Amino acid sequence: MEFSTQTTASLHQVKTAALAVGVYADGVLSPAADLIDRASNGAVRSVVKSEFRGRAGSTLTLRNLPGVSAQRVVLVGLGKQDDYSARTHASAEQAFAAACVAAQLAEGVSTLVANPVADVAVVARARSAAIAAGSATYHYDASFGKPDRDARPKLKKIVQVVERADAAQAQKGLREGNAIANGMELTRTLGNLPGNICTPTYLGDTAKRLAREFKSLKVEVLDRKQVEALGMGSFLSVARGSEEALRFIVLRHAGAKTVKKGAKTPQGPIVLVGKGITFDAGGISLKPAATMDEMKYDMCGAASVLGSFRALAELELPLDVVGLIPACENLPSGKANKPGDVVTSMAGLTIEILNTDAEGRLVLCDALTYAERFKPSAVIDIATLTGACVVALGNVNSGLFSKDDDLAEALASAGRESLDTAWRMPMDDAYQEQLKSNFADLANIGGPPAGAVTAACFLSRFAKAYPWAHLDIAGTAWRGGKDKGATGRPVPLLMQYLLDQA
Ligand code: BES
Ligand code: MN
Ligand code: ZN
Repeated sequence: MEFSTQTTASLHQVKTAALAVGVYADGVLSPAADLIDRASNGAVRSVVKSEFRGRAGSTLTLRNLPGVSAQRVVLVGLGKQDDYSARTHASAEQAFAAACVAAQLAEGVSTLVANPVADVAVVARARSAAIAAGSATYHYDASFGKPDRDARPKLKKIVQVVERADAAQAQKGLREGNAIANGMELTRTLGNLPGNICTPTYLGDTAKRLAREFKSLKVEVLDRKQVEALGMGSFLSVARGSEEALRFIVLRHAGAKTVKKGAKTPQGPIVLVGKGITFDAGGISLKPAATMDEMKYDMCGAASVLGSFRALAELELPLDVVGLIPACENLPSGKANKPGDVVTSMAGLTIEILNTDAEGRLVLCDALTYAERFKPSAVIDIATLTGACVVALGNVNSGLFSKDDDLAEALASAGRESLDTAWRMPMDDAYQEQLKSNFADLANIGGPPAGAVTAACFLSRFAKAYPWAHLDIAGTAWRGGKDKGATGRPVPLLMQYLLDQA
């Protein structure tokens, strides 16, 4: 998608395939809609009275209005005026998405000129608008033999009309939002690809392709031999159950400016760790068949790391960021982990595997130990870790776990700002009791109570050397049912956090 801004007072003279203008609930026209109404001798007011009430997210497309140069005028419902203003960029995001969907339906529309209602947060609004436009025009057809050409989005370009004084800020927001949208597109497609295509090798190749495309990125993809040499016994034990080759991906974005002599010492990098289970059958603790297909999404943490790296490389953010992805499958076989097996992690802690389906923590713990070598200023892991997190928070909030109040608040606030929210969960030491084992340093499950918390507590045992946070995205990374598909979350949250640090 291409984005640009335009400053113009005479909206009715803009030549475009589609022009979006807002209408509040109960038929109150935005200034832009009012302008078009006057130019067209009341064409907007006449339909607003009869068939368009401005309900939030609704649209009505009008064609060939007299006195208006745009071929189509898309009326976009903004909801009640007070609510719209209170929700600022959340409302703009919804309105933008609705306008894009409406414009996309029309044959021959490649450009949409949008004129959202002005408010204070110009950068945030433009950023959200670009993200919404990207999400609304996402289309998956990578694994269709005969893709439906008509279903492909035709919308290629969006022009935002802004006040002259706001143009620079709006352009900054659109650039950021577009990079985030491009990152989310990658994250969604990787998630949606089936497990037989999106293998650990495929994830490694995707990382290499990104590094070829963006010169700020360096990538190293380790194979089984190299992972063995590192002593990642826990990760290896999960990978051993599958014929598919494992990968351990190390990404680096070097963006921080070199520090002048005498300046304070440079901070360590921010490390993002993504769970990359490309299919989770549960192993010997096999999952039930219903909806097991959705376990192709068990690499969405890894996909969000790759998507974020795409975005931060495109934006050339002045930050040092490392991405770590332990990638393998979790399948039952003669070589798979068995309940009761004890494995030795890279940290030297032994783990009793009481349930082979709690494999995410087994691959992440070794990646968290590997992260120590970067002397990071913060480590954030992102994982579709527990069904219990879905029970606790549904698909509204990601689970946010950290003992570090500053890091937790920085991530929570990035979530609010980017409309990609996370809810902080407890991590009291008392929960660690549940991970006690009679035969190893710790067990890999803590029983049914507080399953999302004990999973986080397990990880915390391997993350003592740096400030650390864990995002459980089991409920937010994809939707099931009729609209099954990856969401691209939590790329907006992660990118907002990184933008805030830069
Ligand atoms: N990948 C799953 C978590 C998951 C399950 C995410 C369902 C989204 C929907 C994870 O590897 C897993 O299987 N976790 C187990 C842990 C349990 C055995 C302690 C779970 O949540 O059931
Ligand atoms: Mn599992
Ligand atoms: Zn899993």
